Amino acid sequence: MAKIITFANVKGGTGKSTLCVNLAAALGSFGYTLSVIDADQQNCAFDWINASNDQNLKKVDLYQHSEIQDLKKLTTDFVLVDTQGSLTREMADYLAVSSLIVTPCKVSRDDIVGQGWVEIFLKQMGINAALIPLLTVLNGVNKRSSILFHIIAQLKKDGILTAQTTISQRVCFAETNVNRVSVIGYNKIATLEINSLTEEILSLLSKE
Ligand SMILES: Nc1ncnc2c1ncn2[C@@H]1O[C@H](COP(=O)(O)OP(=O)(O)O)[C@@H](O)[C@H]1O
Ligand SMILES: [Mg+2]
Repeated sequence: MAKIITFANVKGGTGKSTLCVNLAAALGSFGYTLSVIDADQQNCAFDWINASNDQNLKKVDLYQHSEIQDLKKLTTDFVLVDTQGSLTREMADYLAVSSLIVTPCKVSRDDIVGQGWVEIFLKQMGINAALIPLLTVLNGVNKRSSILFHIIAQLKKDGILTAQTTISQRVCFAETNVNRVSVIGYNKIATLEINSLTEEILSLLSKE
């Protein structure tokens, strides 16, 4: 069965759709087959990929949540699920069957609190959180800022699984959203960062 990666954070604007679309492009460029399900009523990821001429995004099997009857019928290597920033029943259903939950966080207290709510939600829904890695990805960072080092140290102290790769704040992420492409091949450093995050995720999934 496909490995399901769900992008979740209770807080909006943390980069769920941006990372979902760009990781889809990176996995596509690595040669994997994939489906993307947009479970957010705003359909940001769906509209982005649907209108895209990006060679890696054109290969994606794209669905809205309402089109999905049975996840088991999706036979691609990966299924990426973009969710909306609220704790909904459908989010719980996707979280429960995920191989990995990616929680993007900007370097802000509210985003980290949003990450904590995903963990609490898993427990409240009776999902065995111990079985599903919850990976925090710091997004939109300034790599030289001292607050970044402070937050990384705090996350480590709190035992929160955090990706070693952090994604810088770059205008290319907003530009590529407008142009309906991914950053892969569009911006050199952003490509390196997204590829590095993708490799980290692949390595985490291979350990399961
Ligand atoms: N690394 C980044 N650098 C610059 N802008 C970013 C970055 N990640 C996301 N953004 C921008 O932040 C906004 C929110 O991102 P989005 O992916 O829509 O968040 P969410 O899906 O969590 O609500 C968008 O305008 C997006 O272009
Ligand atoms: Mg979104």
